[in-house]
Amino acid sequence: MAVRLLRQLALRPGRAAAQAGRCHPLRPHLHTPVQLGRLVNPQYTRSLHPASPSTTGKAPFFEFGSLASYASCDSTPHIGTHFPSPSAISSPRPQLHLADVLTAPNSDELIRDLATLVSHRGVVFFSKQQLVIGQQKELAKRMGQLSWNLPREKTSGLHIHPVSEETPELGADTSVIDSKEGIARADYRQNVRASAGWHADITFENIPSDYSILKLHTLPPIGGDTLWASGYEAYDRLSPAYRRFLEGLTAVHNADFFNEYAQQAGIKIQTTRGAPENVGEDLTAVHPVIRTNPVTGFKALFVNRNFTRRIVELEEDESESVLDYLFRHVAENHDLQVRFKWEKDDVAIWDNRCTLHTATNDYGDAARQGNRVVSLGERPYLDPASKSRREFLEANKAASNGA
Ligand SMILES: [Fe+2]
Repeated sequence: MAVRLLRQLALRPGRAAAQAGRCHPLRPHLHTPVQLGRLVNPQYTRSLHPASPSTTGKAPFFEFGSLASYASCDSTPHIGTHFPSPSAISSPRPQLHLADVLTAPNSDELIRDLATLVSHRGVVFFSKQQLVIGQQKELAKRMGQLSWNLPREKTSGLHIHPVSEETPELGADTSVIDSKEGIARADYRQNVRASAGWHADITFENIPSDYSILKLHTLPPIGGDTLWASGYEAYDRLSPAYRRFLEGLTAVHNADFFNEYAQQAGIKIQTTRGAPENVGEDLTAVHPVIRTNPVTGFKALFVNRNFTRRIVELEEDESESVLDYLFRHVAENHDLQVRFKWEKDDVAIWDNRCTLHTATNDYGDAARQGNRVVSLGERPYLDPASKSRREFLEANKAASNGA
């Protein structure tokens, strides 16, 4: 049985490619319990941790586990999975409701499997969710807590954004995403290329984010899509020599523009932002250019055009050139991206450690609003023994072919 399951998993990328965006109910679905049910793997450990190199390099199997019985389909081979309403894909399986997940008898198992799925697929979409802001916050906290076996780091609460304002309804740990003002508009410039917007959330913090959960409740009549890109696949597309070069580097991330925005808007910047390491008005941090995701054990490219300013170990001109190449590498490889067309009350959950994203400002003066909750993860690190996603998939394929 284990060999058969391994073989099915190894076949997954090609079959997902064939089915991308076409979740036909009459075809065997990739996410059946038989194919993606819980696998027993002695190497599978959730205790991957920077302080435990002996446990790293052993990436867990990709699994849907307890989520396998819900209607879902992959959006692209490399990134994105969607849990739509079953009628949208004529699936006999029920719809996944995130609010129900929070109170289910096996709630911890469902949330842990959800976090694992998000960390593998980068971003996961959920159609038409009745999820109130308190539930959104609870889900974000529990995803972080349950995706590690180790005690949650004391730094890992919800992020308070530097320009987030305390309101009785939402609280400062909710980032209001509004097309008119605030976080989503602080660095908006007209007449620049749309690709200038690619970023991962809050990488200017010493303890940046693991998961973000965004629910949009107000949408323009047309437009306003969001795109995500896979940091795993971006790493895998680089040559071995270039990867080795990047793995020795660190980069400065900075968000001075939020200070400038706060000054112009006449608001006080938040100086305590969810972790003891995320304090003060200097929104600057240094992180490895390639980082390991502790949930999957995979390496990912971790620079972005919005926040990454300079590679520390290089001369200024060299840094500019390398960063420009890497930013274009993400923006110009549309086959490592996924584009999501929102409908009211849709939810997206993504892992900021292994994805980048950008909104699409193509809707003029129309309103586009929602609430985002961002949980804090770990201090970014690179475990040299960790694998790339492609190495993991190829190793599984070879193992199944040789079995
Ligand atoms: Fe963002």
